[in-house]
Amino acid sequence: MITKQKGCTDLIGREAKVWKFIDSIVDATMEKYNYNYIRTPIIEATDLFHRGIGESTDIVTKETYDFVDRGGRSITLRPEGTAGVVRSYIENKMYGNPAQPIKVYYNGTMYRYERPQAGRDRELTQFGAEILGSDDPLSDAEIISLAVNIYKMLGLKEIKVNINSLGDNTSRLKYREELIKYFKPHIKDLCEDCQERLQKNPLRILDCKVDKDKELLKNAPKTLDYLNDESRTRFERVQEYLDILGIKYEINPNIVRGLDYYNHTVFEIEAKVNGFGSNNVLGAGGRYNGLCSQLEGPETPCIGFASGIGRLALALELEKVKLPIVDDIDLFLLYVNEEEKKYALYLAQELRMAGFIVDTEYLGRGLKAQFKQADRLNAKYLAVLNSDDLNNNEIKLKNNKTKEEETISLDAIIYYLEEKINSTEDFETEEDGCHCDDCSGNCCCEGHHKEEV
Ligand code: HAM
Repeated sequence: MITKQKGCTDLIGREAKVWKFIDSIVDATMEKYNYNYIRTPIIEATDLFHRGIGESTDIVTKETYDFVDRGGRSITLRPEGTAGVVRSYIENKMYGNPAQPIKVYYNGTMYRYERPQAGRDRELTQFGAEILGSDDPLSDAEIISLAVNIYKMLGLKEIKVNINSLGDNTSRLKYREELIKYFKPHIKDLCEDCQERLQKNPLRILDCKVDKDKELLKNAPKTLDYLNDESRTRFERVQEYLDILGIKYEINPNIVRGLDYYNHTVFEIEAKVNGFGSNNVLGAGGRYNGLCSQLEGPETPCIGFASGIGRLALALELEKVKLPIVDDIDLFLLYVNEEEKKYALYLAQELRMAGFIVDTEYLGRGLKAQFKQADRLNAKYLAVLNSDDLNNNEIKLKNNKTKEEETISLDAIIYYLEEKINSTEDFETEEDGCHCDDCSGNCCCEGHHKEEV
């Protein structure tokens, strides 16, 4: 048997519905924040990631899926979305669009050759958002709050926002020197990779997966102590704006992030729910003012974040969030003879086009087996098509829960189902409607978790 690749997932059944629900909340929230959907290719020139993410990062040295295509080009499956978005921004000259800044969001698969474990896959799906063209700390606060609000809209409560600042280039250079000074006398205590990183990119030592728990790393100099006045003031402004938005956060000087393109604000949002393993960062991001010029585009200040959908789905499960996932159908059409079958085929199409979720029999089973199938599909209503009824322009509809049956005119079926299925009195519980003050049940939370809207 050919099986799926290590670290990849077949998304099926309820889990697939949970992911689709997450997608719907992402789309709806991004729309409210006025971010436009962008789709860039999964394959890009290898050089994009080497130059963009950084030659000495773990992602580039150990985790990319690289191959040479039939034309001899060096290609990489994207390990993240930001570099591709910036490439597209430059290639499509989005910097020339008068409506600056450019606000985009994406949702797609990424590939990292990692050691698979809970919350760490080789094929992962991330959604993310980027603001290109604004250096205003307001954008930093918006990006962080956007991530937090998507999690809230999903119904997650147990999250923690950690923020830090790496400062501008001058601050980073000063910090780099201090790190070299600090680690140099202890070089033998570091893993082989970190010994190499010391001169090339000492910041990367701080997120080394091998050395991460060593006291040496824990006691290393902190970025915040090396910020110049401008960077410090900027970071204070980000915090002020987050306060205005009511976003709770902690300043965590240990956050440096595993990609080289960051400066100024960096952040990670953790799941705090019990049962999550060590891969508990739901989403993360930061400012990357140098990336665009590094990729031969104009100097462009940017900030963004990305979030793994697999980890979000796990957080929703562990927090036992009740999701409005449809796992029933409105109507199942049962039939016996060919004439009834033809009508079932026709009626199913009519009712589906009118907005109902309708299914019917595909295997030629007897009525008893069809009733069972209707139960398996959680049908709210059943229609047992009968040639005599059809000739009288009638149909029998049965409520599958109460077992009450009514014979109605075929012409009235849409009105009947609309009244029975879509009327407010037929909602399962009153709580299903949204109770927040300002949306009257019409907001994108679709009646979910009211208090945080
Ligand atoms: P990242 O921290 O590498 O950042 O990934 C962001 C999120 O993707 C993580 O917090 C996690 O939820 C998810 N993730 C990453 N790797 C895996 C994996 N192997 N398995 C499952 N989930 C994973 C970035 O990718 C940056 N591009 C974020 C960004 C956008 N910065 C600025 N703009």
